Amino acid sequence: MAVKLLEVRPFKSHSNEFGAEIVNADIEHLTDEDFAVIRNALYNFSVVVIKNQAGVSPKAQYELTRRFDPASDSYGHGKTLDAKRSVLHPDLKTIPHQPQVQVIGNGFYEEYEGLKNITLVHPHHKKFHKDAIPDEEDLDATRFYRWHIDAALYALNPPKVTSLMAIKVPAGRRQTLRYDDGTGEEMDVPLGTTAFVSGNRIYELLSDEDKEFVRTSRVEYAPHPYIWMSPAKSRSDGLGMVSEGKELDASELPPIDEADIKILPMCWKNPLTGKLALQVHPSAIKAIHLADGTVMSDIAEVREKVHKLQRPGISPQYVYAHDWVEGDFVLFNNQGVIHSVVGAFSPEEKRLFRQCNMASSEGVMGPDGKLY
Ligand SMILES: [Fe+2]
Repeated sequence: MAVKLLEVRPFKSHSNEFGAEIVNADIEHLTDEDFAVIRNALYNFSVVVIKNQAGVSPKAQYELTRRFDPASDSYGHGKTLDAKRSVLHPDLKTIPHQPQVQVIGNGFYEEYEGLKNITLVHPHHKKFHKDAIPDEEDLDATRFYRWHIDAALYALNPPKVTSLMAIKVPAGRRQTLRYDDGTGEEMDVPLGTTAFVSGNRIYELLSDEDKEFVRTSRVEYAPHPYIWMSPAKSRSDGLGMVSEGKELDASELPPIDEADIKILPMCWKNPLTGKLALQVHPSAIKAIHLADGTVMSDIAEVREKVHKLQRPGISPQYVYAHDWVEGDFVLFNNQGVIHSVVGAFSPEEKRLFRQCNMASSEGVMGPDGKLY
C-alpha cells in the first residue's frame, strides 16, 4: 500500500493568512519526519487543523502535544484547577488515566474515559461578562467569552502548545458574535467556534511607538490569577476585565511565594521564524514594568493600556473562527496566539472536546532572545 505523505494546506481563504490544514496524518503512529512537518506548520501558521482523527486516544493526544516540549510533563495549570474558587474550575474535567488531558463541552455523559456521570457546561458569557446579551436573543447571539493564553501565570511556565480535539460536535447552527464595545463590530460564527488571533498580527498593527513600548515592557501577573479575578467581571469583548475593585486581596488567596510571581515580556519570540507576538493575558494582568524601571501599578490604567494595544488585533478581519467537525485535532502555538471560547448552547446541544497542554519546561523567549 502506498504511504501518503503529510500535506500542509495553508488557509488561503482566510484574509489574516494564518492557520493551515494537515491531511494524511496518523497521530497514533507519527514518525519523526511527520512530526517535523507538523512542528514546522505550527510555528509558521500558528494554528494547524489535522483532519479525520476520530478515535485518537488521550494517550496519543498527550504524546503528540508533549513532543513539542519533551521535558514537560504536568498539565499547564498543574493542580490549580482543583481550587473550587478558580474561574477555570467549572469548565474542565481531568481524565483520570491521563491527567494532562481535560474534557470540556456541553451536556450529560454517563461515561467517558473513566469519568462517570459528568455534566459538562459550555462557559457562557453571562457568568463572566459585566453586561450580558438579553435572554431572548441568547441562542442567536454570542460573544468572545475570554481572550487568553492557556497558562497558570503563577509558578508554572506558559505551555508551548495546546491541542484541542473534537469528539462530539452539535449540528451546525450559526450565531452572530457581538463585540458590544461601542464599535458596532460583529461577525457570523459557527456555534461553539474557537476563535484565534495571531499575536504577531496584534504586534504588527501597532504604531512604531507602541511597538517600542511592547518590546521593552514586561507584564506582572497577579498571583493565583484565576482565583484573584473570580469576583470580577469582564468587558463585553472578552478582552480583559472591568475595574471595579472586586479582585480578591492577598489575604483571601492561597499562600503566595514571591518567587513564583510571573513578570513576563509583553512580546514573545517565535522559535522558528523569530517573529514577535504580543502575548498578554489581559484578564490576569496586574502591573506593567516599564523600560526605565518604573512600574505602572494602577490596575485601571494598566488594563486600559493593554486593551488599547490588543483591541485592533481582535477585529473581525483578523479572527480565525474554527468551524469544528468531529475528528478535528487542532494544535496551536499557545505562545503565539490568543484565543477565546465562543457560543451559547442549549442544554440539549451536546458537545465533547478534549484539551491538552503541559507547563513548559522553560520560560518564554523575549525579544532579546532570553528566556523569562
Ligand atoms: Fe484555552
